[in-house]
Amino acid sequence: MPDHSTVTSEERTKRSYERRPYPATDRGRLGDQGASLPPLKWMQAIGRPGRGAPQRVLIAGCGTGVEAFVMRRRLPTAEIVAVDFSPRSIAVARRLQRTENAGRPITFAVADLTEEAFAQGLGGAFDLITCHGVLSYIPRPERVLKNLAACTQRDGALYLGVNGEAHPATRLRPWLASLGLAVDELRDERRLRELLGLWDALNDDGGGELASMSATYLGGDVCGPHFNNWSVAQWRSKAHRGGWELAGTDVLPMALQLAMERANQSVLFPAGAGLVAARLDAARPAGFHRMMLRRGKAGALDVTGGATARSWGWTGLYAVRFAKSSVGKNNETAVFSCPTFHLRWSCEVTKAQANALRGLVAAGGDAPQGRHAWERDDASRRLLWLWTALGVVAVK
Ligand SMILES: C[S@@+](CC[C@H](N)C(=O)[O-])C[C@H]1O[C@@H](n2cnc3c(N)ncnc32)[C@H](O)[C@@H]1O
Repeated sequence: MPDHSTVTSEERTKRSYERRPYPATDRGRLGDQGASLPPLKWMQAIGRPGRGAPQRVLIAGCGTGVEAFVMRRRLPTAEIVAVDFSPRSIAVARRLQRTENAGRPITFAVADLTEEAFAQGLGGAFDLITCHGVLSYIPRPERVLKNLAACTQRDGALYLGVNGEAHPATRLRPWLASLGLAVDELRDERRLRELLGLWDALNDDGGGELASMSATYLGGDVCGPHFNNWSVAQWRSKAHRGGWELAGTDVLPMALQLAMERANQSVLFPAGAGLVAARLDAARPAGFHRMMLRRGKAGALDVTGGATARSWGWTGLYAVRFAKSSVGKNNETAVFSCPTFHLRWSCEVTKAQANALRGLVAAGGDAPQGRHAWERDDASRRLLWLWTALGVVAVK
């Protein structure tokens, strides 16, 4: 039996990833994490609106490198630094890079995200950080969030992939323990697979088949030493303490579109995108969150009244066209489509708003002409608020 009394959960996490580097140690079983990382276009539009492609990228907690290789394919010329506290994972990543053969080499380094000197060791000034499947396993992740803020540009962004309240492990761990399994120290035995098969049959919710998951995934995600399976509200508050503002989640546009179909999205008003995301998640908890965060207050929109202090601009996530309105000749119908999330919806705007919208699209990421068309009355501010949460516009 391992001695859990003297070993911290951080040390146990490290040992667990040293024993089973994630996601795998050989190319054949590495898979492609491209599907689980959100599109770069969304990361840029919500996290760094109006900015060019990132030049300096940090992969925080890179495991054996698959996330870094995906980013390299998306950004062939950017400088990419990828770190992990498991020396074995970094050794595997370096070996795999030799056969990856894709663009500028990635710098792989051993580093602990929780250490106070973390930012100094890396040189700072990153304009995009991705941290996928890492913070859910670190006690007091605010320390890491603070460190990441310290090595990011002021207009830099952080993508976080973290567990939600509805993550299967929240209920699965106590269930396995109640059936006599030692959940803190996974043994990939037949009984575990049989129980997971039963779990899958009872939880046919499209969340993935646990019985067929690798021992590496089960060791970290189900039977690991520490879990933060938290709501958006909890992650948002930790991020805030670490110096970050939640600017959006990947499910927010879809959830808001559902609300718009029933014409009841305005019950959420007034609130910025981060608070709206937290309120929607509280009503329908997710198992995993993909969140974009920005430094300080950069992502917040004052929707409560008066002119907004900051400038805001078109994100480029949507295309818009105008159609004749059935409401009257002073109105137009704006039809929005977002190929990234396969969304399409329309709304009625006044002629003045339609013209301001045309100006905004033409100006691209920069502050629009005629912004007063959106800020002068409550109805216009509501529209602007809604479009911020949907990712049509972003506050700069
Ligand atoms: C589930 S894996 C995810 C790897 C990679 N991000 C991916 O999605 O493929 C979690 C990784 O976080 C690393 N990790 C956990 N705590 C860490 C810390 N304090 N400092 C650096 N890396 C850490 C682990 O070693 C492990 O490789």
